[in-house]
Amino acid sequence: MADEPLVLGIETSCDETGVGIVRGTTLLADAVASSVNDHARFGGVVPEIASRAHLEAMVPTIQRALDTAGIKGSDLDGIAVTAGPGLAGALLVGVSAAKAYAWALDKPLYGVNHLASHICVDQLEHGRLPEPTMALLVSGGHSSLLMTTDITSDVRPLGATIDDAAGEAFDKVARVLGLGFPGGPVVDRMSREGDRKAIRFPRGLSGPKDPAYDFSFSGLKTAVARWVEAKRRAGEEVPVADVAASFQEAVTDVLTRKAIQACRDNGVDHLMIGGGVAANSRLRAMAEQRCERAGIRLRVPRPGLCTDNGAMVAALGSEMVWRDRAPSALDLSADSSLPVTEVSVPGQVLAHGDVHGEAYRALDADHGH
Ligand code: KG4
Ligand code: ZN
Repeated sequence: MADEPLVLGIETSCDETGVGIVRGTTLLADAVASSVNDHARFGGVVPEIASRAHLEAMVPTIQRALDTAGIKGSDLDGIAVTAGPGLAGALLVGVSAAKAYAWALDKPLYGVNHLASHICVDQLEHGRLPEPTMALLVSGGHSSLLMTTDITSDVRPLGATIDDAAGEAFDKVARVLGLGFPGGPVVDRMSREGDRKAIRFPRGLSGPKDPAYDFSFSGLKTAVARWVEAKRRAGEEVPVADVAASFQEAVTDVLTRKAIQACRDNGVDHLMIGGGVAANSRLRAMAEQRCERAGIRLRVPRPGLCTDNGAMVAALGSEMVWRDRAPSALDLSADSSLPVTEVSVPGQVLAHGDVHGEAYRALDADHGH
């Protein structure tokens, strides 16, 4: 539909420079430039390298997205950007770029939450999110159960990890097994050749007295490391595929069990799974089986939309415009620890109908408008 908002989204919270373009809930372009290979030899994302890579990739990636969508910047109804949470320096590159484009093109700017974007991206594949929707958000930095009735304004945290995020556990276990970085995709691949029942690794926070919706993966990670160490010390070969599969089974078992419990307890019959770990093939298969048994409709975006990308930011930006939410002011700042409850960041208080705010006016004066 021609009157559906056309929004460009910029994502730079970690190591992917993502630029997506969305019209309504239709994806028009999803350009991603990743610096993941530059971090591999350090075994994790190095913030300074990520920031520099974003800076270098930003303009070409925006251009690529515009070309793919076949639109000009002037056609846009808004520019959305991840304002947090994430790496401070990396976020700053995206926020600065978004401000520059918003100002130069005279378009409203929407600083949005990375986690809400991970949920909203599913609208590009499965249409508008049912209200309410339960979201299991599992990435390198987060593992949370969130309930939302309106993805632009109401995201309620029910539980979260008390130590490592699920993706972090994948990355650490991959390191123990000597599989490289990032660990998720390679553990996923290795697991296909392994026996997931070979080793019974602990399921964290799964006792009757434990908090129902919180997660803990640090004990599991340590258990895997100890098990591998013991094998090595005994001079035995480590059955890497079996360890990977058994570890993956423990993570996905806890994640799906708690997500379904949260749906049941809150009378929610739609479960969405998002974030990088949602790309995991075992998690997807197990969630599908268990949701079907529980009478819950499962929504998981395709793997390419689960890991960080610009399309998810554009999806949330488009929803913000569609629901007539207030844009951010040009003094918007990146917030590396933006709480999940803050779906968007207002920046300065705006006068009604003033999409630009004070900072814009000051710049406009300089700019000779
Ligand atoms: O959402 P994301 O791209 O970035 C963050 O916001 O953190 O998630 C990255 C995380 C990494 O820890 C990576 O190992 C994990 O997602 N991941 C996976 C898979 N693909 C990526 N974990 C398990 N299985 C996968 N197939
Ligand atoms: Zn993410």
